[in-house]
Amino acid sequence: MDVFKVSGNGPLNGEIKVGGAKNAALPILAATLLTDETVVLKNVPDLSDMRFMIEILQHVGAETVQPEPGTWEITAKEITHIAPYELVRKMRASVCLLGPLVARMRKAEVSIPGGCVIGPRPIDLHIKGLQKLNCQVDIANGYVHVDASEIKGGPIFLGGRSGSTVTGTANIVMAAVLAPGSTRLECAACEPEVVDLCNLLVKMGAQIDGIGSPELTITGVDKLHGCEHSVIADRIEAGTFVIAAAITRGDVTVKGIAPKLLSAFLDKLEEAGLPMELGDDTIRVLPYEGSLKPVDVITLPHPGYPTDLQAQLGALMTQTDGISIITERIYPNRFMHVPELQRMGANIAMEGPSAIIKGASKLSGAPVMASDLRASAALILAAFAATGDTWIQRIYHLDRGYERFEQKLTGIGAKIERLHEREMPKELLEE
Ligand code: EPZ
Repeated sequence: MDVFKVSGNGPLNGEIKVGGAKNAALPILAATLLTDETVVLKNVPDLSDMRFMIEILQHVGAETVQPEPGTWEITAKEITHIAPYELVRKMRASVCLLGPLVARMRKAEVSIPGGCVIGPRPIDLHIKGLQKLNCQVDIANGYVHVDASEIKGGPIFLGGRSGSTVTGTANIVMAAVLAPGSTRLECAACEPEVVDLCNLLVKMGAQIDGIGSPELTITGVDKLHGCEHSVIADRIEAGTFVIAAAITRGDVTVKGIAPKLLSAFLDKLEEAGLPMELGDDTIRVLPYEGSLKPVDVITLPHPGYPTDLQAQLGALMTQTDGISIITERIYPNRFMHVPELQRMGANIAMEGPSAIIKGASKLSGAPVMASDLRASAALILAAFAATGDTWIQRIYHLDRGYERFEQKLTGIGAKIERLHEREMPKELLEE
């Protein structure tokens, strides 16, 4: 297994390019099943999650060609309606296959995705939405079985206990685009990744009004056609790079990201006093003296503060004088990074769904364990601010969502190396 060896860093400096958004590319890859014509996708990030999704598309019968890195040509001429457990269990976002299979095949059998360390990942809203589209949905033997022979559009309220659902919205929109009649979807997710999916579907011939708003109106059409689409930039990768610059007091320009995709995040950093210059598709972080100001933030569905940038902000706030409060409203367990940051010397107390972070604390390098995608990133960011070396194990979590992470960061002066765990000092190697 690979590990990262990260050494405490001086200021990071230079330019760093953002790749395509994982959380847009996943539902968009699933959407290629909605037509028997070729869909050409560009700016698809090279991540393990993408490879899993491509594997599942191949399994159901789609032809997949990669003419060049970042580009996929998908043709789903003849497909089956079953997404098996052995593939779905590798990546819960494969639940996004439900909508396209229901729409195209009028039936679907998709294994129920497992939970993950950040908490249970229910799909009750996905099922409710399909039932509102007049589908017969049964759960048996760990699979969702859908009979959509009588599918038809209708009014759907898709809000749950934590508000809107991103992949739930993706699934229901993809099911509705080929359903006879009109579907009015209320409390739809407004994340930029959902907007990107809707834009792709319209290019394929779907009729969707209200894109980007919590109320979508989908008018079913008989058939969708092929098209070409470039996946939007990954705002979460961009935000992670912004924090890397801030925690090392560097001068870094994050390129290929429109600041408007990160309004709540940038607003919070502005409140903390981080000097930044915003361009049309760049975010430049500037060096600063003294301490930033502590913040009080609650994660919310878009346009609120993104849960996927919660752990990274927490790492930064360990270096900020004063008491910061970070409350997680989407996934209350999403604090697996906290015990690891405490091992590095961070002063954090958990109070229900809130982390009370008392800064600034001197961090020292330590052997730590990655647990989930964004927590892994937070540990690396903290390691940049620590004295000494930090060894991060189980970095396969990171490879799910960050393409060439260590290469990109090394390019702006980070001291981060990918090594085999046998190269870790023996005394540090934890079971
Ligand atoms: C998407 O997950 C993202 N993943 C997550 O990113 C992201 O954290 C999350 O949206 C929230 O923004 C992908 O897009 C592949 P949800 P998703 O359905 O769609 C509850 C990352 O790090 N809920 O919006 O699974 C749920 O428990 C990943 O890149 C129900 O109760 O999230 C949660 O509390 C992690 N019933 C809340 O809604 C349902 O049927 C939001 O979940 C569905 C969800």
